[in-house]
Amino acid sequence: MRTIRTVHELREVLAPARPAGRSIGLVPTMGFLHDGHIALLRRAREQCDVVVVSLFVNPAQFGPGEDLEAYPRDEARDAALAEAEGVDVLFAPPAEEVYPPGFGTSVTVAALTEVLDGAPEQRGSEHFAGVTTVVTKLLSMAGPDVAYFGQKDAQQALVIRKLVRDLDIPVRIEVCPTVRDPDGLALSSRNAYLSPAERDRALGLSRALRAAEAEVAAGRLDAAGVLSAARAQLDAHGIDPEYLELRSAADLSPADRVNGSTLLAVAARVGRARLIDNTILGGTT
Ligand code: PAF
Repeated sequence: MRTIRTVHELREVLAPARPAGRSIGLVPTMGFLHDGHIALLRRAREQCDVVVVSLFVNPAQFGPGEDLEAYPRDEARDAALAEAEGVDVLFAPPAEEVYPPGFGTSVTVAALTEVLDGAPEQRGSEHFAGVTTVVTKLLSMAGPDVAYFGQKDAQQALVIRKLVRDLDIPVRIEVCPTVRDPDGLALSSRNAYLSPAERDRALGLSRALRAAEAEVAAGRLDAAGVLSAARAQLDAHGIDPEYLELRSAADLSPADRVNGSTLLAVAARVGRARLIDNTILGGTT
């Protein structure tokens, strides 16, 4: 595995792949890899000839007062994990390589970025502008055939699919299922912030989603019933969510009942960690 820090070198290393008919898979990450990332790396390894993982804690997607400084980082550990998964290239650029002095472009996706995590009282659409700008750059730098993202960030995945469609970026976006600990907690680098007691409380998120699924399985499809089953689990764990919403899994429009593929998304603060989780009710995307 080669570790690369500059765009120039990344392009040089990847240049021979395309004429040789070798496919490139890109797994964009902010590092501190967990089994959710490993699942993305494995999928990329199965499907592509050359696998690139990027490690870049993207300052543009953190708002003032968010956890940019505290965000966990351990490049040596990430490199060992990536190498063990057969990754070919680890791309870990410094911030000034991605945002050189004078950088002044932002890529924004409308509508989808203004609800849930993008609502003004949540992280705001600027969060997604940071994500879509850096993802556009990473896709332009690596020119992958396929890029891999996790379903845990369901809204991010929809936004990125829209981004590549709207900008005609020639890449297939593959979204892989959320990976969970055996007790249901969705894996996240931010779980590193949780004390053991907070980790127990955090189980309220996945249990809320499972309770909603049980309501739907029992034939109760109205939003009020589904949301109150979920909320009861959050209450039982002492969690006051930042949002708990039912929306169309296709375009994030509000849903007043589970009808086809419906996204139930939750965000909550547990201790220092802001956690998100989701499930698709009544179908698949
Ligand atoms: O999902 C993430 O880790 C980040 O949002 C991403 C896609 C790597 C962009 O910085």
